[in-house]
Amino acid sequence: MKILMVCLGNICRSPLAEGILQSKVHPDKVKVDSAGTAAYHVGELPDTRSIEVARKYGIDITNQRARKFSVNDFDVFDLIYAMDESNYQNMLALARNSEDASKVKMILNETNPGSNNSVPDPYYGGVDGFENVYSMLDEACEKIADKVQ
Ligand code: 4NP
Repeated sequence: MKILMVCLGNICRSPLAEGILQSKVHPDKVKVDSAGTAAYHVGELPDTRSIEVARKYGIDITNQRARKFSVNDFDVFDLIYAMDESNYQNMLALARNSEDASKVKMILNETNPGSNNSVPDPYYGGVDGFENVYSMLDEACEKIADKVQ
């Protein structure tokens, strides 16, 4: 099983989602990666605020480097989780067929099915925003881990 976490820049939310889910699943059974729909930060480490909040909960995400989502990801991954509505729409616009489109899910629907809630973009806010994102993603990833294992 291969799972991709997607946000806009691939430096704040999706690196946390990748690190959190990978920490909850067997690495031989479930591969987790992340990407951004925009290329602004390609090649960069996660935002220091994401690195710090992950470290606080015992997760090291400093091995990650930002990359841009590509249409090829539809061939590689079984499930693709969007952090927000805009990431979701951007990926659906790239889907080549209904099979591609069916892989794309809103991550917070794992916690609240059918809600279509977005993980708020914490980039322009303070550290509290990253704590909030962490706790939302931790809850959602717990559900995903239960489902895929
Ligand atoms: P992310 O946050 O999508 O959670 O990685 C952002 C990172 C960078 C920007 C926006 C959101 N930016 O505009 O550079």
